[in-house]
Amino acid sequence: MFVSKKLLSRTAAGMAAAGVLALAAALSPASAQESVKIGLILPMTGGQASTGKQIDNAIKLYMQQHGDTVAGKKIEVILKDDAALPDNTKRLAQELIVNDKVNVIAGFGVTPAALAAAPLATQGKIPEVVMAAGTSIITERSPYIVRTSFTLAQSSTIIADWAVKNGIKKVATLTSDYAPGNDALNFFKEHFTAGGGEIVEEVKVPLANPDFAPFLQRMKDAKPDAMFVFVPAGQGGNFMKQYAERGLDKSGIKVIGPGDVTDDDLLNNMGDAVLGTVTAHIYSAAHPSAMNKEFVAAYKKAFGSRPGFMAVSGYDGINLIYEALKKTGGKTEGDALVEAMKGMKWESPRGPISIDPETRDIVQNVYIRKVEKADGELYNVEFQTFEAVKDSGKTKK
Ligand code: PHB
Repeated sequence: MFVSKKLLSRTAAGMAAAGVLALAAALSPASAQESVKIGLILPMTGGQASTGKQIDNAIKLYMQQHGDTVAGKKIEVILKDDAALPDNTKRLAQELIVNDKVNVIAGFGVTPAALAAAPLATQGKIPEVVMAAGTSIITERSPYIVRTSFTLAQSSTIIADWAVKNGIKKVATLTSDYAPGNDALNFFKEHFTAGGGEIVEEVKVPLANPDFAPFLQRMKDAKPDAMFVFVPAGQGGNFMKQYAERGLDKSGIKVIGPGDVTDDDLLNNMGDAVLGTVTAHIYSAAHPSAMNKEFVAAYKKAFGSRPGFMAVSGYDGINLIYEALKKTGGKTEGDALVEAMKGMKWESPRGPISIDPETRDIVQNVYIRKVEKADGELYNVEFQTFEAVKDSGKTKK
């Protein structure tokens, strides 16, 4: 086949030009792109997969409801599964920042994952929106971290004070043996013993695939008035099953704690042993606001299940990113976005919330709730509200 020299050189020039363009695009800063990229790192497999599923669902729902364009920019979510393993989180965050040039990293199903990404957020100067993890120290690890979930201190102090006021004198504790479990235990203990309560047994259970049975026997033998329990989202169903099998409900040892153990996502399948469980928490699917009723109905319709507190934390997290982008007029520079997020206030399905401008942590209502049956379904029914609770677990400076 005859190909003219002229055509050959034209093609070569075209290819070279295309190459230059591709290189320029690869090197151009994220802020010059027309889309805003969010690197969403969640546990979609493994023991914490229900957290990943809830957050991913809630973000999809939010984007269906609000569209995928903000301040003239298209929002692109890149989902990565870290299976809640911090080495994976770190590698994925690095790839998302360096290769995909994301403007925000978000998600983080467990504390070790949120902590593993913190130095990368600082180096990359990009916001890290924590949508699940709950250890107080997290927001202190990078000036680019903003949290829309909760802290264990927020709920554990409140349930401790409630226990003291309600005649609970002896408590046995069962907590998951990692950072948020230790926060839950320490903040509960501090408040409960200051109010005159006594801890009669203290057990810590492994985070991965815990078998609660041997620990539950120790709880039973200690004959407490109640047991204080923290297990992360996703483990409450298994815990309650073993609690009932060991007959702790029959021996009158009630469960109290932060509301992770009675997550609405799993509550309906926990059986009647869970009735009467009193927890302090940030969200109930039964929260009686118009906005929440709409949220629960839309989530159920889209995914066929009830949203829990992780879903709400994800829904609020993506809202925070959208609203910050509106405030910056679509500017994606990390410092500008974090600045825009500070002090933001809005109504969430959980109630009124805001971002503390000093700590970048969430300020929210904490509700005391009791598991009750309504229309054949189990719900965490709120009966007392503590308004605008800040995290009390920060390092004292
Ligand atoms: C956490 O790892 O920080 C964490 C995970 C799930 C929870 C609470 C805290 O339910």
